[in-house]
Amino acid sequence: MIVKSAAKLNLTLDILGLLPGGYHAIETVFQNIDILDTLEFFFEQENTQDEICVEIELSNSASADAMTFPLHADNLITKAAKAFACKSGLGKGLHMRVSVHKTIPIAAGLAGGSGNAAATLVALNEHFKKPLTIDELSEIAATLGSDISFFLYGGTCAGRGRGEILESIDHSLALSFFIVKPRDIAISTPWIYREYDSFVASQYVTKGESNLPACESALRNGDEQQLIKSLSNAFEPVVYKAYPEVKALRDGMLELGCLSANISGSGPTLYGLARSPAEAVDIETAFTQWHTEHKELSRVKVDTWTAKSINFGTSIISITSPN
Ligand code: C5P
Repeated sequence: MIVKSAAKLNLTLDILGLLPGGYHAIETVFQNIDILDTLEFFFEQENTQDEICVEIELSNSASADAMTFPLHADNLITKAAKAFACKSGLGKGLHMRVSVHKTIPIAAGLAGGSGNAAATLVALNEHFKKPLTIDELSEIAATLGSDISFFLYGGTCAGRGRGEILESIDHSLALSFFIVKPRDIAISTPWIYREYDSFVASQYVTKGESNLPACESALRNGDEQQLIKSLSNAFEPVVYKAYPEVKALRDGMLELGCLSANISGSGPTLYGLARSPAEAVDIETAFTQWHTEHKELSRVKVDTWTAKSINFGTSIISITSPN
């Protein structure tokens, strides 16, 4: 079975306070984009009562992230498979091999690992002929991570609570993005939340107001100007303080014609809104030149993409795989 697993951007991300248990209450707008991992699942059923067994391989091992891609129990794919088996009571004697073709950069704020976990839940549910509803899969997803549920619904969603309470936002804007990831900076989610807390404490800044309603109404009304004003991320001051080079890259994106430039999720990936796919490509070309010319920044290696908004987080593209 072949499943596509999409990346996401956070069009807005605001932190509204603390939840019991130490998590942060957030409001965010998730948007899937067409940077896609491909997961190929091979299932072999043995006649035993053994727990589900998961084997993961990276099919493009030459990728920049190959060294940091966890292949065993730490991988969210393994955690998702075990959680599915636990909740459904299925999977005894099942050997699941997953070959992952990774395009989404790791620890970048694009939630590649979360998307892969959601894809695993969808694949197992399909393999067992859909014993669980999407909402039940979403309950499993929420136990594994705050933004995994989003990938089960996909497209554009408002996320509340820890990010797992979702409401779909229907809109007809075709969004085009230019995306920049500083190659050697990886930001972990727990770290950024801790840094955010000490930043807020040290700056006497009150926790933010939510940009979600403005973003949502801009999307629903197709109002590009209001959308641009609403794009924001509460982690930006923290990331720009720790990594001034990320701020310099952001300023470059704006100088070269992006309508906005913000970090996604916990960063350090930056995305800029462009008027069209062709304009995003032109900005990417100009940015490559700009980056080489700015000697102080050329030591900061970057990867760039252009991307478009899409309306799914996971998609089964083939049920049977040649074994
Ligand atoms: O849920 P997820 O695995 O993505 O979260 C990783 C860590 O990020 C949590 O253990 C917590 O420290 C922090 N976090 C948070 N508030 C959120 C989401 C994550 O404090 N809404």
